[in-house]
Amino acid sequence: LRARDFENTGHGPLYRRLQTALKAIIDDGLLKVDDALPSERDLATELGISRVTVRNAVRALVDDGVLVQRHGAGTFVAPRVEQALSRLTSFTEDMTTRGMNPGAVWLEKSVGYATPEEAMALNLSPGTEVARFRRLRTANDKPMALEFAVVPKQFIPVPEEVDKSLYDALAKYGKKPERALQRLRAELFDYETARALGVPEGSAALYIERRSFLANGTPVEFTRSHYRGDSYDFIAEMQVDA
Ligand code: GLP
Repeated sequence: LRARDFENTGHGPLYRRLQTALKAIIDDGLLKVDDALPSERDLATELGISRVTVRNAVRALVDDGVLVQRHGAGTFVAPRVEQALSRLTSFTEDMTTRGMNPGAVWLEKSVGYATPEEAMALNLSPGTEVARFRRLRTANDKPMALEFAVVPKQFIPVPEEVDKSLYDALAKYGKKPERALQRLRAELFDYETARALGVPEGSAALYIERRSFLANGTPVEFTRSHYRGDSYDFIAEMQVDA
């Protein structure tokens, strides 16, 4: 990285341009997970800019969850979340097993009539009541995904009760899903979703659609999510056909 690579490019304050340049270096794999960032002083000297600028850029990347600071050790490229594709788990479980603190920012909790798409996905007749849950999901306060879950109202009699985990709320009524079909595809974050997640508009997203079912095959959940492409690895184990 050289000062001329970012000083005269883009808009906004210098620290923002340094932030973008550092993020690009990480996205390009030139700095990998757990690699240490040079010290603030070294970066400032090398680039011929002030330490305050370096500090602001680094702090912004820490806030975005791209870098982590470890006391006494320095600043490192933050680990990505590795998510197994073969096990049916909830976001709360996923984060808790990693020792992270799951959180949510609620955007919508409502009851309404199933749209044609929802009715199709949940195998409901038109006009059936559904509960809708739209949340920004966070791990240690870092935004990870935006999720929009739709559940037949009969399985979640009191939607207001859903506070933390949707699956825990379903479990309370004996309706925890046992099987799911999931579809993943690459997308780019639109302006609104990007803003909610604190990532640049047009950055990489993983769109995930989950339909989950009770043991008897009844659909319980139709969830459309956008996960941060810069923070997730999805892992599947594979075997050749028997
Ligand atoms: C994951 C899935 C969602 C599911 C959610 C439940 O995030 N992608 O389809 O609704 O887990 O998580 P929780 O029980 O924490 O609300």
